[in-house]
Amino acid sequence: MRVAGTVRVPGDKSISHRALMLAALARGRSELTGLLTGEDVKSTARVLRQLGADISPLREDGRVTVHASRITHPASLLYCGNSGTTARLTLGVLAGQRFAARLTGDTSLRRRPMRRVTEPLRAMGAHIEEERGGGDCLPLTIHGGRLRPLTYTTPVASAQIKSALLLAALTGRVPVTVREPHQSRDHTERLFVHLGLDLHFHDGAISYQPSAARVPSFRLTVPGDASSAAFLVAAAVLAEGGELLIENVGVNPTRTGFLVVLERMGAHVKRVNLGEQGGEPVADLLVRPATLRATSVGAEEVPTLVDEIPVLAVLASRATGGGETVFREVGELRVKESNRLELVAANLRAVGIEAEARGNDLRVRGTDRPPRGRVDTARDHRLAMAFAVLGTLPGAAVRLSERRSVAISYPRLFADLKRITPRGARHRD
Ligand code: S3P
Repeated sequence: MRVAGTVRVPGDKSISHRALMLAALARGRSELTGLLTGEDVKSTARVLRQLGADISPLREDGRVTVHASRITHPASLLYCGNSGTTARLTLGVLAGQRFAARLTGDTSLRRRPMRRVTEPLRAMGAHIEEERGGGDCLPLTIHGGRLRPLTYTTPVASAQIKSALLLAALTGRVPVTVREPHQSRDHTERLFVHLGLDLHFHDGAISYQPSAARVPSFRLTVPGDASSAAFLVAAAVLAEGGELLIENVGVNPTRTGFLVVLERMGAHVKRVNLGEQGGEPVADLLVRPATLRATSVGAEEVPTLVDEIPVLAVLASRATGGGETVFREVGELRVKESNRLELVAANLRAVGIEAEARGNDLRVRGTDRPPRGRVDTARDHRLAMAFAVLGTLPGAAVRLSERRSVAISYPRLFADLKRITPRGARHRD
């Protein structure tokens, strides 16, 4: 299979959620371009509309207008779909509002831990009711109100916890200081700074200081999603020849750990045309096929590539010489859209690759045998996309249990994979 062409990936999912939320909290009319129109961002838009924001329909072209008014009491249940970011960040937004709201989500989201967010929000003064039998998880009812300042160290490096607390501080007008064990993605901080909000960075901590002024309305262009680009990068690295250019990708260092790991594995992805959009670095990625070697990924790197582990595990399965790649301390993968730690290992085995989840580590052994077998995606978009990439290898026969989940973050993935591996170029010259 050869790779060819120039492609753009959809807008960054994390930035799209945050841009919509901040626009809904701003004064007046904001204009967003390049917004992701995947299902997760639609969940955020739906919830914000229920809270009173006037958001234009999310269309393919990614242009959205938000007319903010006051956040108001929702008439019905807030359904967050499959999106952990929608649920956790909305809890932050609601912590400072003087009304009650009930949140829920799909079967996957209703299994994901929420106390990591509800505990510090309770410490700030929000009342949050868990439902009998639901324990840590959605559905939850939050009664926001007058908040207290908080200084907090997150138990895990999670941008969702950090962002929920910063949004609570913003809506509740109280100071908050957050520390985390390792730095997680910093899009919320960058947006706060971009909007002129009072954020300080000192000795590894982030502090927000409220001011009397409301969030100003703004215009923002959302860069391409580095996590979506990772699937195309992986397909190009695994190709037998050619070259791929992926334009306008967000290259925020808190998101590009997979490029660092790829470099160690022997694949060099060139960044060209460097620029900046809304306080975020962007670049075009130039990717060529490479011979891969096994590597080891450490705990401190994990937050910078947490969503890329399924596709990195797929790449690790092609390491030459039967080398073993170890991803250390990736226990957080158990509480993503699926139990990714167990499912990545089980699905690699299902297609004939040696892999195991041992404690919180994931181990994958390289082989040159073509992968063959059926993969259970558990309706997890990143599992479906990672194994779709494995299926592009010559001689591969990888059947996915479903493909629809890609609509969560990268609706066009299959069309783009087809486009970059054009017919007639799929086989060796
Ligand atoms: C996200 C943060 C990450 C990531 C998720 C999106 C965000 O989760 O896995 O896909 O937008 O803040 P954690 O912050 O829980 O690690």
